[in-house]
Amino acid sequence: MSIPPPESGYAFVGLSNLHNDIYHSISAKETPTLHQPGKVILITGAGRGIGRAIALQYAHAGVAGIILCARTNDQLDEVESRIKAINADIRVRKQSIDVSSDSAVAALAKEVESEEDRLDVLVNNAGHSAAWIPLHESNPSDWWRTQEVNFKGPYLLTHAFLPLLLKTAEKTGHVNIVNMSSMGALQVNAIASSYNSSKLALCRLTEHTDVGYADKGVNVVSLNPGGVVTTLANQEIEILKPYLNDTPELCGGFVVWLTAEPRKWLGGRYVAAPWDVNALEQLKDEIVNGDKLKVKLVV
Ligand SMILES: NC(=O)c1ccc[n+]([C@@H]2O[C@H](COP(=O)([O-])OP(=O)(O)OC[C@H]3O[C@@H](n4cnc5c(N)ncnc54)[C@H](OP(=O)(O)O)[C@@H]3O)[C@@H](O)[C@H]2O)c1
Repeated sequence: MSIPPPESGYAFVGLSNLHNDIYHSISAKETPTLHQPGKVILITGAGRGIGRAIALQYAHAGVAGIILCARTNDQLDEVESRIKAINADIRVRKQSIDVSSDSAVAALAKEVESEEDRLDVLVNNAGHSAAWIPLHESNPSDWWRTQEVNFKGPYLLTHAFLPLLLKTAEKTGHVNIVNMSSMGALQVNAIASSYNSSKLALCRLTEHTDVGYADKGVNVVSLNPGGVVTTLANQEIEILKPYLNDTPELCGGFVVWLTAEPRKWLGGRYVAAPWDVNALEQLKDEIVNGDKLKVKLVV
């Protein structure tokens, strides 16, 4: 296994405190304190890969409702049947949607408000990656499409759902937004200008959202899900190969842990699913006092 370079923050909690797979402290199947009854969760990109795993971990957490969003209906059907097999009482709503469509996202927010009247967790997970090639060889439409899915999408979802999230937070005390970032947000190379730029921009959007809404109960983080073999991150991308060692369940469990209680000290920050959550909690004072895990210029 390769260790990513220091600027990725991969080893922030210490090399001996990293995981590749789900473990007791983040597994709702094994840890009742992670259960979140009554909550309504919305996950974009929920049809396969990491989003699918997040949905299944919330099923183990016994939430009230899960809204699954993606464009491929048969994949959403499969995830629904897996959720029902884990917990038949969970309400599942499937929404075929392109996250970059202003009107579709706005319509979804209206429907969720009228049908559920609450949203506790928004997971902006849908992602796209333009071909990993030098910038001058890139296709401008594909390059920009990555910004639309990875950056505009989370903005649209946040914009459309904030009123419902705030209404929910008034009653429950806290809600969460999880923006799926990437180690790529913190790395520079010659072939991933589109993907890495979109994920860095998303980290800054996370910080802006935190500054605007943390005091109203909105806890927002950027999350690196680890390296997972998926349709998006596949073995054909040579420079990614050494890093694709994690299970999707690792990130699924980490997201459930993030939202199980108010973790205000992580608001606006970048976190990584491979980090052991107990080791991370030990660093709480260091993180808050040093204002760490944010995007800053080194001077
Ligand atoms: N895998 C990794 O190692 C890794 C590492 C760092 C970050 N990430 C991030 O993790 C997230 C999930 O990726 P993944 O690796 O699990 O990839 P994946 O298996 O290819 O899943 C991507 C999901 O996003 C959906 N999606 C794509 N474009 C969409 C659009 N325009 N509107 C709505 N949904 C859309 C896809 O469904 P449809 O195509 O059916 O719409 C699919 O459900 C992404 O944000 C990715 O950048 C992954």
